[in-house]
Amino acid sequence: TTNQSWGGRFSEPVDAFVARFTASVDFDKRLYKHDIQGSIAHASMLCKVGVLTDSERDAIIDGLREIQAEIEAGQFDWRVDLEDVHMNIEARLTARIGITGKKLHTGRSRNDQVATDIRLWLREEIDIILGEIERLQSGLLDQAERHAAVIMPGFTHLQTAQPVTFGHHLLAWFEMLQRDRERLIDCRKRVNRMPLGSAALAGTTYPIERSITCELLGFEAISGNSLDGVSDRDFAIEFCAAAALAMMHLSRFSEELVLWTSAQFNFIELPDRFCTGSSIMPQKKNPDVPELVRGKSGRVYGHLMGLLTLMKSQPLAYNKDNQEDKEPLFDAVDTLRDSLRAFADMIPAIKPRVEVMREAARRGFSTATDLADYLVRKGIPFRDCHEIVGHAVKYGVDSGKDLAEMSLEELRGFSEQIEADVFEVLTLEGSVNARNHIGGTAPAQVLTAVQRNRALLPGN
Ligand code: ARG
Repeated sequence: TTNQSWGGRFSEPVDAFVARFTASVDFDKRLYKHDIQGSIAHASMLCKVGVLTDSERDAIIDGLREIQAEIEAGQFDWRVDLEDVHMNIEARLTARIGITGKKLHTGRSRNDQVATDIRLWLREEIDIILGEIERLQSGLLDQAERHAAVIMPGFTHLQTAQPVTFGHHLLAWFEMLQRDRERLIDCRKRVNRMPLGSAALAGTTYPIERSITCELLGFEAISGNSLDGVSDRDFAIEFCAAAALAMMHLSRFSEELVLWTSAQFNFIELPDRFCTGSSIMPQKKNPDVPELVRGKSGRVYGHLMGLLTLMKSQPLAYNKDNQEDKEPLFDAVDTLRDSLRAFADMIPAIKPRVEVMREAARRGFSTATDLADYLVRKGIPFRDCHEIVGHAVKYGVDSGKDLAEMSLEELRGFSEQIEADVFEVLTLEGSVNARNHIGGTAPAQVLTAVQRNRALLPGN
């Protein structure tokens, strides 16, 4: 016989290495609060349906609350020989309150218990993550409003394309984060369903009332099939998919910050507190935070693939494989939350170098499309305008002149249709102001978009 909680049918103790190999307590102890929350709801329900007496229920609930306090005070002795968070807490409960503690697991299995714990835990983490996304979005809106009319080059192929406003550029990030938020809100609906009551796989013979635990735990719905309830982890995969997309967005954002803080671009200033130096090169100020976030996107993609592979081909119902769901999920949550937090702290502190941005937009013939559009308005077909302006740009490259720096005579050399009013369209302001429609870069549109987007954030 053994001292294990399942030792009854065993004739020798489990091998010491196997005990360590199969244990999960080192990482799943993180679920302690939700495990206790689930157990309290389960005990309350068992009492309501007459399986536990009032005094048994009270002893269990008081005992669990004291255990929670012990854990939070750092006084709980986690034992690897007790495998996981669930059996550690149950064993401690029995040690504290005696035989009644052994009744808690009536009508329940660790299989529905752990599935419930993870969902309770993830639901809470999603809410924290949503809060960080909103904080970052709100920082972007403030910056966009402040810099609605600041002009910078817009790029395609990382080559100067057309002038855009810095506010407009920042609002592109807002949009991506908004979709990330929508995805997480939608994912949360499927996280928020209760497997408790599925027991090991087939349900239980006790007269349980799942609606009672569902209500106590604040779940939106009860899982409809016990085999599915204990075994699927698609909700965790779905979270990782949403997290991977959000990290992909943050990695693009990071890349731009890294470029923009380089001496070659010099578009923005990142306060020192978000950077570190070099141990050898005294002049260095490195954009570590965005670099690290860019790098961390990789591990979240990895966790998504890891969980998909973990679940692939698993037969119904619970398999021990599922114990491997926790570390990737925990790390995906931590990585996304911390990356968002770093960005939410950092973005309100970045400062555009307005003159540098403007100068960069002025170079690179960014108003060439505006000149072509001008000629279209003078009655020339677009394809011909394109060619005319192409010649002008070639001349500009050879002579080192931007379009706006050429004289009217020089410009008329490319087309007789060009008149003095051309210089309005060749200015950077003229170019951005002209793109004045929903989703366009005009400062007026940026301000409208800021208002529209503010209404999407909670508390507005
Ligand atoms: N530690 C386990 C897990 O994380 C709990 C469920 C174990 N159930 C079992 N029958 N071995 O998946």
